[in-house]
Amino acid sequence: MSAGPPSPPRVQVLAAQVADQIAAGEVVERPASVVKELVENALDAGAHAVRVELEDGGKTLIRVSDDGRGMDRADAAAALQRHATSKIRAAADLIGVATFGFRGEALPAIASVSRFEIETSPDGSTGTRLRVTGGKLDAVEDAVRQRGTTVTVRALFFNTPARRKFLRATATETRAAVEALTVLALTRPDAAFTLTSDARVLLDCPPAARAIDRIRALWSRDLADTLLPVSYREGPLEVSGFAQRPAQARPAGRKGYVFVRGRPIRDPFIVRAAEAGYRSTIAPGDRPSLVLFLDLPGDAVDVNVHPAKLEARFRDKFFVEKVVEEAVRAALAPLAAAAPLAGAGGPWQGLAAELGGGVPLELFAAGGEGPGRPSKPPLLQVFDTYILFQTDSGVAIVDQHSAHERVLYEDVMRQLTGDGAPAQRLLLPLTLEFSPAEIEAIDAHRELLARVGFELEPFSGRSIVVHTVPNPHPRFEAGRCIQELVADLAGGRFGGWQNRLERFAATFACRAAIKAGHHLDADEMRELVVRLLTATLPAHDVHGRPSMVQLPKDELERRFGRA
Ligand SMILES: Nc1ncnc2c1ncn2[C@@H]1O[C@H](COP(=O)(O)OP(=O)(O)O)[C@@H](O)[C@H]1O
Ligand SMILES: [Mg+2]
Repeated sequence: MSAGPPSPPRVQVLAAQVADQIAAGEVVERPASVVKELVENALDAGAHAVRVELEDGGKTLIRVSDDGRGMDRADAAAALQRHATSKIRAAADLIGVATFGFRGEALPAIASVSRFEIETSPDGSTGTRLRVTGGKLDAVEDAVRQRGTTVTVRALFFNTPARRKFLRATATETRAAVEALTVLALTRPDAAFTLTSDARVLLDCPPAARAIDRIRALWSRDLADTLLPVSYREGPLEVSGFAQRPAQARPAGRKGYVFVRGRPIRDPFIVRAAEAGYRSTIAPGDRPSLVLFLDLPGDAVDVNVHPAKLEARFRDKFFVEKVVEEAVRAALAPLAAAAPLAGAGGPWQGLAAELGGGVPLELFAAGGEGPGRPSKPPLLQVFDTYILFQTDSGVAIVDQHSAHERVLYEDVMRQLTGDGAPAQRLLLPLTLEFSPAEIEAIDAHRELLARVGFELEPFSGRSIVVHTVPNPHPRFEAGRCIQELVADLAGGRFGGWQNRLERFAATFACRAAIKAGHHLDADEMRELVVRLLTATLPAHDVHGRPSMVQLPKDELERRFGRA
């Protein structure tokens, strides 16, 4: 009669097989994660050649073969136990661990959710084959094979239908697996990697001497040719690798890789820090391709914070981000010297001096060629938009708006951090209307606006009185500029910029610069070109578009059949 309260559930330790399946949930998400774990094991075993085969995107079969050190029978059996690893012995060994693996989870996890087979030999004469189905050891056999290991994973998730349902189309799974191998191939240019999918070769990387050769093999020569080397050290942190030239950065399709102590890591903060290194050389939406290797002492980073080891925790994250940003910035700095205009004189100071007649010019000041001044090479404006002139090695073409944007940007950055810009007091102050969001943007930027020359005073409600305005060039329309500038600030149009000052400066430069379609007289052109050539980063405007291009003399000679 008296049933009493239901007895509480008993606490029991899970069977090893169940525990493995649960762990598999974290480690094995899809065929690509199996590829990742098996290839990491191959590399940890000292392999020089790794072969990956897929059938049906890995859903039917994944096979990874290596020529690494292999295992004897006892080790092979042990390796299938949970928490069995040869890579660490004590927690203290985690500090500075140099192998990809150390958790001892991958093989048992994979074997618990597939029909699994491992064939391995430590010496090329005796070998072992173990067969496991859904975590249960079926067979231990002799196998004859060369030194190394081959793991075959069939029918992934055959016993966990819920997970199997999450697998995507064959093409999608194949792509993810190729990507997983690509990442690891970047860490070891000296090793050979191949990947075949349903007997088609999708990846074939011979051993390479340098990282850039490996990048060429993985992607294309075209992409590799857009990369600049990164090589930078500060204190304990060394950053090396490649950053894409700003002009080649695009909003979509970038490749971004970060390795920490040789280990692939997903860290959006490091990627963002690297992008900050581009400063104003790329448009806010553009994403440069990056391959960055961070090297720092083992005790400065914890790599055991993620089951698939995809994250790392730095002891000093801000330091790491700062150094990454500086590393990228330093990599881009030589661009100025190597840009398309580089003539015999290296950077453009010489050309600037020649074009300017050796006389420093006031910004767009009027004034002709006085007596005693050497004659200056001519400049030609076409379409009221481009300025042409001769250089040592060809014909340079400057986009007047982009060029002026670059020049103003650098001026404004100096003004914002220094004394501010000279402003003109209006005899008749302007009164302008703004939206509530714009009024808020004005409030938030009042100090910066004053520094570039706009002294603004709230009038009533949505009206603002403009007392002073900057005067960056004679055709400057102050009213229009402030309206566009405030609209940009309120609309977050330049939101991609990391730094508030830089964002403001870029927005101002874009709106204040002389527009395309304005006729310039000879002195105005000369002033602009000289200022551009003496800028810090003359080759790109604040959106990362080129501000000048060159038609090389060689090219002219070739076209006219002189060469
Ligand atoms: N391809 C291989 N070649 C030689 N030994 C291997 C290979 N794969 C795995 N092993 C051995 O099996 C152990 C367990 O592998 P795994 O479960 O991936 O854990 P972990 O890599 O974290 O140690 C490894 O520590 C290694 O000793
Ligand atoms: Mg492993």
